[in-house]
Amino acid sequence: MVSLANPLNETYSGLVTAPNTSAAEELQKRLPNANVVKAFSTVFAADFATPVIAGQQADAFVAGNDTAAVETVSDLVATAGFNPIVAGDLSVSRTLENMTLLLIQLTLKNGYNWLAGWKILHN
Ligand SMILES: NC(=O)c1ccc[n+]([C@@H]2O[C@H](COP(=O)([O-])OP(=O)(O)OC[C@H]3O[C@@H](n4cnc5c(N)ncnc54)[C@H](OP(=O)(O)O)[C@@H]3O)[C@@H](O)[C@H]2O)c1
Repeated sequence: MVSLANPLNETYSGLVTAPNTSAAEELQKRLPNANVVKAFSTVFAADFATPVIAGQQADAFVAGNDTAAVETVSDLVATAGFNPIVAGDLSVSRTLENMTLLLIQLTLKNGYNWLAGWKILHN
């Protein structure tokens, strides 16, 4: 089960979830027999048509507790054209959901036209 939800409030000023949880973890609590994996939440819908932005392939973060499920979803992320980065267990969804909140706020402030994404630079 993939959780791509971002639990944004109505004004995009914050999340509606408590700081000690995430939309993905709340979904996992409701679906105890499923392996919930957080993915596709940190990229915008428009990025699917253009996952290479300004010459850089957008990263797409994946988080989950089940190694096999995370691997399967990472393959799906790569097939969609993004660079999958496994970020950690499902609790990392708290950070990922806040990263998307920030990306939305920056997009609105700077006029990125909903074509924007995160990229980790490394050597
Ligand atoms: N759009 C993006 O760029 C993007 C990127 C990353 C993640 N996401 C996440 O993807 C999810 C969908 O985003 P979206 O942009 O596709 O939103 P959307 O266009 O507003 O679609 C939301 C859908 O959810 C349904 N819905 C809303 N409340 C419901 C409820 N209480 N019970 C059942 N169905 C309900 C709506 O049904 P009705 O049409 O009948 O109201 C609609 O089909 C969100 O969680 C969002 O955070 C979106």
